[in-house]
Amino acid sequence: MARITASVFTSHVPAIGAAIDLGKTQEAYWQPLFQGYEFSKQWMKDNTPDVVFLVYNDHATAFSLDLIPTFAIGTAASYQPADEGWGPRPVPVVEGHPELASHIAQSVIQQDFDLTIVNKMDVDHGLTVPLSLMCGQPEKWPFKVIPFAVNVVQYPVPSGRRCFQLGQAIRKAVESFDGDLNVQIWGTGGMSHQLQGPRAGLINKEWDNAFLDKLIADPAAAAAIPHIEYVREAGSEGIELVMWLIARGAMADVAGGPAPKLAHRFFHVPASNTAVGHLILENA
Ligand code: DHB
Ligand code: FE
Repeated sequence: MARITASVFTSHVPAIGAAIDLGKTQEAYWQPLFQGYEFSKQWMKDNTPDVVFLVYNDHATAFSLDLIPTFAIGTAASYQPADEGWGPRPVPVVEGHPELASHIAQSVIQQDFDLTIVNKMDVDHGLTVPLSLMCGQPEKWPFKVIPFAVNVVQYPVPSGRRCFQLGQAIRKAVESFDGDLNVQIWGTGGMSHQLQGPRAGLINKEWDNAFLDKLIADPAAAAAIPHIEYVREAGSEGIELVMWLIARGAMADVAGGPAPKLAHRFFHVPASNTAVGHLILENA
């Protein structure tokens, strides 16, 4: 059977991608941020999965106001890095896993979550920046990726509670796949940030760190945080954090297993307009 061995959580700021692509990671502004991912890059080499189920949000790249799926699963064989305005990032093509993705779609839809199936799409910084942070600049990404896009851009957005339940359904789906695969689930986006309006630039370190504490030790409490609290405390784009609850909901302890091991925790402010948070949790 396939199994979920670990979850990874990280912010996805586009300027981080530009810093990597333009060779600026050792500049004074960026060095402390990238230092926090040195452990992670080594951990990734020591714990390379077959597949990463990568929960992220599209930023009006693959989807637009024409079409707004709440939850969309990528079932394609490959995904091109998108042109977001500066040209596509110079990163490898993302290879998919159509068999596992189709199986998860079947299982999760039968568990009553209505997913949109996407057979063709490009992937933006929401997906490629987490890959770069965790893997550096390889010629080829070292695993297959199932992109799972969540609408946190255009209202109405899904609740943290529903995202947490969806994670539990994804875990069941992965474990019922007939094939021996090591799967990681990543929750990306966040932490506190607001890019618009009078509160643009908002960062809330205390709230972010309390969220990390809860996500690690009491994920059901994190899942109960109402939408309005994200917006009030973590800013309008802080709502991206509900995606972390999908990954957390897929961990073994939520299904009655042992608590995960915290392999790494990192927090840094700011990167561009955003507070950067990062966790690695391993299933026992
Ligand atoms: C920034 C952060 C985001 O999450 C995003 O999608 C775009 C920009 C920023 O901090 O600049
Ligand atoms: Fe974003």
